[in-house]
Amino acid sequence: MGDAYPIQPVDVPQVKTEFRTIQSAIPHPDMAPLLTQLRETEPICMEGQPPIVWDRAEKATVYDAYGNRWIDMTSGVLITNAGHGRKAMRDAISEIAQHGLLTSYCFPHKIRGELTSLLQTVAPRPDDKVMLMSTGSEATELCIKLARSHAQSKGKTENVFVTFDNAFHGRTLGSQFAGGIGGLKDWIGYQDAHFVQIPFPDGGVRSPIEADGFSYFEKALANAGVTPYQVCGVMTEAYQGGNSSFAPPAYIQALSQWCHKHDALLIMDEVQAGFGRTGKFWCFEHYDIKPDLIACGKGISGSLPLSAVIGRKDILDLFGPGAMTSTHSGNPVCCAAALASLKIILEEKLAERAAVVGQIMQDACAKIAKRFDDVILAHHGKGLVASLHCIKPGTTEPDGKLAWEVIGKTVQKGVMMFGPVGYNGSSVKLCPPLCIEEKALIEAMAVIEEAFEEVLAARSADSIA
Ligand SMILES: Cc1ncc(COP(=O)(O)O)c(C=O)c1O
Repeated sequence: MGDAYPIQPVDVPQVKTEFRTIQSAIPHPDMAPLLTQLRETEPICMEGQPPIVWDRAEKATVYDAYGNRWIDMTSGVLITNAGHGRKAMRDAISEIAQHGLLTSYCFPHKIRGELTSLLQTVAPRPDDKVMLMSTGSEATELCIKLARSHAQSKGKTENVFVTFDNAFHGRTLGSQFAGGIGGLKDWIGYQDAHFVQIPFPDGGVRSPIEADGFSYFEKALANAGVTPYQVCGVMTEAYQGGNSSFAPPAYIQALSQWCHKHDALLIMDEVQAGFGRTGKFWCFEHYDIKPDLIACGKGISGSLPLSAVIGRKDILDLFGPGAMTSTHSGNPVCCAAALASLKIILEEKLAERAAVVGQIMQDACAKIAKRFDDVILAHHGKGLVASLHCIKPGTTEPDGKLAWEVIGKTVQKGVMMFGPVGYNGSSVKLCPPLCIEEKALIEAMAVIEEAFEEVLAARSADSIA
């Protein structure tokens, strides 16, 4: 993430279409006291987003309290796969709250049983188990713990956990050791030799092209001084989040076989990729493999904080009663939201829809990337997630400033975007709710193209002046 957005209102052209309304300065001048209050009470890290005060959101539309309305291309941050504020989800939350069960720690409750049973039906194996937790970081941390414990149970004494360059697995200590974004973990102050990252096979965009061949994985591991026997697990984002980069299927298939051969767990971090986002229910289905463990979050509930690790029964059962819990594991209200959200995703076939409707978004991205190929290094994505990788003209150097400007302009035009992500914060990332109407998506993509056009025209006017 880059600088904080200015919170002063900017006069912008008015917009009124079927899907967007911009009828005031942006942000609305009345938001100034709240924005200032937040700036004074919260750390600056909370200011990475365009300064729009969300009032409510419905399906793929975000509203402020002043009649402005945006087509949502964020899903929060890939949370609301089923759509914002779906009635069934609001009803389910109200119902359990009014019924009178707001928490139960690990004491059983009915909705937790219903949710884990439904999640089991979508798990890779019919007898897979489901451990509910609260955040994505907690889920990836649990995967690290399970991989190491599994290795120990097999008598392995060295537990090297392998992940990939540029990977993001969360912001807690273990998940940041596993992450592959250098700057994010400088604060730790030391390297842990038991966490090793190797180049992610991203088609040669930010990794060497040789990284696309699986033999490079073994070479990179050997270069890091690690033998296969030392590896307890390999975790990868099912697609790399920041840049929406997918690995070649043959690579992941070879990785799966390698893990199997060396008794290392294959873990797919589906925190942002799962629950239909990429056009399949799980993103790993694109690779035709079955991971040992899956880390879930975000779209699992479409709203309230819930996460999960789903996977092989023998692994999830490694810890005895009471030895692997979390205070809010399977909170009843979060479970009610997740159950309702999951039912919508399955009943409305939103994964299948993401594949079909997503093609509109991918084609539009390809068109934008081609038109502005001097400043867009690549377009990666599948289904309803995509990233446009911005660069300084004619180089491969990331251009976070361009990404910020395009996003700011897009938001002023009535399409909601979050701040740049990916390689050095230079990617414009698109991830609308999976229920977005086709016409709204087409309109949003036209606005994003217009924003690139206007930002680049203003830049060239500045350079002439
Ligand atoms: C792939 C991936 N893993 C883990 C996380 C961490 O999730 P949380 O922010 O819920 O801890 C994220 C969050 O962005 C993510 O995208």
